[in-house]
Amino acid sequence: MSATSRRFCQVEIMTVDYKMLGKQFAALADADENRLAMSANFVALLYAEIPDINWLGLYILRGDKLVLGPFQGLPACTTIPVGQGVCGTSAEKGETLRIDDVHAFDGHIACDPASKSELVVPLISDGRVFAVLDIDSPYGARFTDQDQVGAEEVSRIFVTALEAQQKPLDEFI
Ligand code: SME
Repeated sequence: MSATSRRFCQVEIMTVDYKMLGKQFAALADADENRLAMSANFVALLYAEIPDINWLGLYILRGDKLVLGPFQGLPACTTIPVGQGVCGTSAEKGETLRIDDVHAFDGHIACDPASKSELVVPLISDGRVFAVLDIDSPYGARFTDQDQVGAEEVSRIFVTALEAQQKPLDEFI
């Protein structure tokens, strides 16, 4: 985390050094390592280093549903149909969704009522979404352009580490 910060709604939000986070993950990830272990460490590292969030995890695409994968935070919904909620919409569109006010998002699925804003990054390999990274915050409009670009960058590093194993990524854990 860098020393710079910004004031938002009386909350001091520290900016995250996503490049450093990517390097830390790359050092943790080993091409031969178990995918479940690698995914669990990816999630744990991000959750430890990104401030002012209350949930962070992976939903894995299985058929036409997203299934809960490794995560940090309160217990969450176990399946989300593609096309529903923020996660399912991101998976369907293959686009990052940054939602400043989740209650204003039609179809938002509330797993933790404390969540107010959300950032969902689709994980894509060979042009196909195989999972999403979901990050929730108890603060409205918590996520900035920098968070979006950074989360997309660390997600690409994670995908590259998985691709290095040269095993199919559909239903990868
Ligand atoms: N809010 C998400 C559901 C997952 S939880 O936030 C952990 C959604 O609308 O897809």
